[in-house]
Amino acid sequence: MIKVLFVCLGNICRSPMAQFVFKYMVEERGLADKFEIESAATESYNEICHAGMHHGTREMLKAMHVPFEEHYSRRIRPVDYAYYDYILAMDEHNIEDIQSIVGIDVDNKIHRLLDFTEQPRNIKDPWYTGNFDETYWDIVTGCEAFLKWLKVGNYLKIWD
Ligand code: 4NP
Repeated sequence: MIKVLFVCLGNICRSPMAQFVFKYMVEERGLADKFEIESAATESYNEICHAGMHHGTREMLKAMHVPFEEHYSRRIRPVDYAYYDYILAMDEHNIEDIQSIVGIDVDNKIHRLLDFTEQPRNIKDPWYTGNFDETYWDIVTGCEAFLKWLKVGNYLKIWD
């Protein structure tokens, strides 16, 4: 079982979108039983407010026929570092924030999602840009590249 935690600032726009896009991607490829997929925030304010997914994220997932469930923001905790195999951040600020919460990445588990692609970059925050479409396609690109990286590296077999 490969445990993946997607992380962004608020856990209401990008990381839950990535959670449900990647979940659907592995389901479609018959790999669902190989993965546990979740998401979390680096900030605690949305957890305190019990905030659900942003309307823009919901609408984008609906438009692309990506199934999703009710999701409420929760902040990443130090114990998540030991539990998850991959902690996939949306941007470089997330990486710094994650490290300030979980400590030094001794096991090299923390990565920026688009660093698995040929154009390493941040995924812009649609909370500020309002562009959920761009976020969606960046996330699809990143998730496809991550899955390919796992396959090429034979990690799917190793974790059987
Ligand atoms: P996310 O976007 O990190 O992609 O979930 C944000 C959501 C909420 C806030 C900031 C960014 N906020 O300030 O509440």
